[in-house]
Amino acid sequence: MKILQAAPGRSYIAHAIEFNQAIQNVLDSGWYILGKSVQKFEEEFSQYIGTRYAVGVANGTDALELILRGLGIGYGDKVATVGNTAVATVSAIERCGAEVRFADIDIHTFTMSPNSLSNLLETEKGIKAVIVVHLFGAPVAWDELALVAEKHGVPLIEDCAQAHGANYRGRKCGTLGIAAGFSFYPTKNLGAFGDGGAITTNNIELYQRIIKLRQYGWGERYISISAGINSRLDELQAAILSVKLPLLEEANERRRNIAACYRDGLKNVAEIMLPEEYKNRYHVYHQFVIQMESEIRSALVAYLSQHGIRTAIHYPVCIPEQPAYLHIPRPISLINTLNINSRILSLPIYPELSDEEIHFVISSIRDFFK
Ligand SMILES: Cc1ncc(COP(=O)(O)O)c(C=O)c1O
Repeated sequence: MKILQAAPGRSYIAHAIEFNQAIQNVLDSGWYILGKSVQKFEEEFSQYIGTRYAVGVANGTDALELILRGLGIGYGDKVATVGNTAVATVSAIERCGAEVRFADIDIHTFTMSPNSLSNLLETEKGIKAVIVVHLFGAPVAWDELALVAEKHGVPLIEDCAQAHGANYRGRKCGTLGIAAGFSFYPTKNLGAFGDGGAITTNNIELYQRIIKLRQYGWGERYISISAGINSRLDELQAAILSVKLPLLEEANERRRNIAACYRDGLKNVAEIMLPEEYKNRYHVYHQFVIQMESEIRSALVAYLSQHGIRTAIHYPVCIPEQPAYLHIPRPISLINTLNINSRILSLPIYPELSDEEIHFVISSIRDFFK
């Protein structure tokens, strides 16, 4: 058996006729950039998430950059986030000219620790915004983080690249903060067949600034009224996403089902720490991440690989320790961020994984620990 850790090709095969038709329709239309498909998908996505506006952009990194720029954040400003995320979150902050400061994470949720954010905002002055990351599909401790942010008068931005359809106390991720950035990278819970991204917000001024910023800052065609960029979702990806969006809820339920099987199958393996799941937080399992001692992890990865099972590490090195980001000051302790990477392992998880494959993964892990 050969089991990939992520397999976006399987989602194409599952609905190939609909995708091919949607692609053909765009090709036949003769209109390939910012046309009817993007507009339709923006309407559908804002309705699904539950915000007044959604703006399609080229990818999730741009989504975060455009939110920051739309909020007027740039040179001389600081933005807080976590060091255990895709590098994109940090790259977006630096691309708009701002400086990054890291808050630590909680080792049970892998997401920003409210205490650490409080410590950071007390210690470091001049932080203008905070990007929280609903990592692996798990909503952050929103109420606690929002309380801290409110005390310091800083807006919270959501990085929802891994959290399409997740919710916190019944409120969808993407509606909680001033704005949210989504990625539609092919392996995401809602993935295109190429790059894509979106911004959701209820704030009309921010929305109006962002729709200009995504296209050269044009107020009207060829006349820039602000210094924007080119970051448009294209018609083909939008049409593909419109086919996939109605399938998302069922796909997330299947991911949760797979997570429940992993939980049940691995609960008695003493060497493994399973991911926490909290009441009132609807986790959509973009990843199912287990923890163990690092020497055990290396041996397990090799053993699973010999049995045809691919795993991944999200992420092998935290951002504060990566060569490009050693310049970022660390005013507060990042002890959990610095320790997590050697312990984590992401198991295969995607809706098209068969029951047989899931049980093979579980029995292979159990055999390794026998
Ligand atoms: C947490 C997080 N933020 C941002 C991004 C950036 O998205 P994209 O790759 O579409 O630019 C990703 C995707 O890799 C991500 O996982």
